[in-house]
Amino acid sequence: MRLAYTDEGPGPAVVLLHGFPLGRAMWKEQVTAIGSMYRVIAPDLRGHGESPAPDGDYTIDEMADDVIELLDTLGLDVPVVVGGLSMGGYVALSLAERYPDRLRALLLMDTRAAADSPEAIAKREELAQAVLKAGNPGPAIEAMIPRLFSPWFVENRPELVAPLRRVMERNSARGVIGALRAMAARPDRTPVLARIRVPTLVLVGEEDAITPPVELQAMADAIPGARLEVVPRAGHLAPYENPPVANGVILRFLDEHPEPPPHPPS
Ligand code: MLT
Repeated sequence: MRLAYTDEGPGPAVVLLHGFPLGRAMWKEQVTAIGSMYRVIAPDLRGHGESPAPDGDYTIDEMADDVIELLDTLGLDVPVVVGGLSMGGYVALSLAERYPDRLRALLLMDTRAAADSPEAIAKREELAQAVLKAGNPGPAIEAMIPRLFSPWFVENRPELVAPLRRVMERNSARGVIGALRAMAARPDRTPVLARIRVPTLVLVGEEDAITPPVELQAMADAIPGARLEVVPRAGHLAPYENPPVANGVILRFLDEHPEPPPHPPS
């Protein structure tokens, strides 16, 4: 599937995959800061933003295949840095398992490797039914907003919550339902963590209510050589809520792991 995407900046490619039910607009501050030194490629995953939202249920693996198709279209056959937040992290882990040769480093942000519990699956289906009935993503937006941001951010930064609310409102009911069912059906990728062979940074907002720091610490502990960075004064959307700290941490990690020089022609 042809995804809509942002492609900005010089240097080695860093692919950023957004959370649910958002779109690439959530990376605005990263496109500016990281994009001053790296080539930031940020797609709208299927069902979101300006990318197609086909009928039917999606899978996280299909979303990952779409990203590979985008890299192929861009001629990026060298391994790239992939960063995913929450649902984007599920996609990044699918890439790590299924396309390890396409990755040279991994950023796992406010996400988890485990599959949904039966209760979480039931809740997602309830939400999917509510979105279907409403004919718009409203029920998902109302359910997500208080969980995506820290209470402080919702209260004190309405001017930054509003643009992301608009991003969510522009998504279609079909896309939101497809993504909810993709997340509900995703496999447990906990066993993949120990097999990750690329440098990995795990990042989490200190007040993340969906994937709390203790879970991300366990994830970092399970990945060889990975480290956890906790972003202060931020919830689940840590890079959006506290970009100066998140960007600093990400840039330091990227600088520590430069792209290897190309092989000399034989
Ligand atoms: C997200 O931010 O992408 C969602 O919170 C992921 C989820 O609901 O599992």
